[in-house]
Amino acid sequence: MAKNKIAAGNWKMNMTPSEATAFIGELKGKIAGASNEVIVCPPAVCLANVIEAAKGTNIKVGAQNLHFEDKGAFTGEISAAMLCDLGVKYVIIGHSERREYFAETDETVNKKVLKALEAGITPILCCGETLAQRKTGVTIDFIRTQLKIALTGVTAEQVSGMIIAYEPIWAIGTGETATKEQANEVCSAIRALLTELYGADTAEKATVLYGGSCNAKNAAELFACSDIDGGLIGGASLKADDFTVIANA
Ligand code: 13P
Repeated sequence: MAKNKIAAGNWKMNMTPSEATAFIGELKGKIAGASNEVIVCPPAVCLANVIEAAKGTNIKVGAQNLHFEDKGAFTGEISAAMLCDLGVKYVIIGHSERREYFAETDETVNKKVLKALEAGITPILCCGETLAQRKTGVTIDFIRTQLKIALTGVTAEQVSGMIIAYEPIWAIGTGETATKEQANEVCSAIRALLTELYGADTAEKATVLYGGSCNAKNAAELFACSDIDGGLIGGASLKADDFTVIANA
């Protein structure tokens, strides 16, 4: 059975709570009949507003991060229970910006994945290589290592419901998208890894997205690839018209 495609927006550090409310007000009408599933991941301080504004619409809401501990002395951090209490259903984990600027490692990413799953929040687990790694020809080895560590202790049933986003770092925010062949090759390799680890049935059920300068112009050809189940969208998810095109790609 063909899976629904997913258009997930990662707003990163953009929009205030009032801007977010206004944006959802604009987006919800445009996107109401979208053919793809729609997820938006606003900054944490916008989550309550966005969840409220998205009530009764087809827009689902995710966070951009969570902490792997339940509670305690972790100034500035947000727990899974806090997200659950707000009604958050998804959480981006291990984005390359978090790995680069906030020292996240494969091991902390793994702990976060396990914590999200324990709380019933669907992880959107990110992986992706640098330009240097791609040039050296180690892309697939690198992605396999990232994912093997991130998925340690995760069951087949959990992986079936998870979202994995392949985001080559050189394509993020650069306007340089991976070609559909490059993107599909790695998404296929991710599915092959899931088949090795969990079996073909689980690999087929898991969702694999592409992210990195995905926009209204290139989304359709990327989403048409055999192993790409949709996109994780940065910049273009902040423009209601562009995101609507992607949500129908
Ligand atoms: P851009 O779409 O802005 O390249 O960002 C991609 C991304 O990092 C989504 O998580």
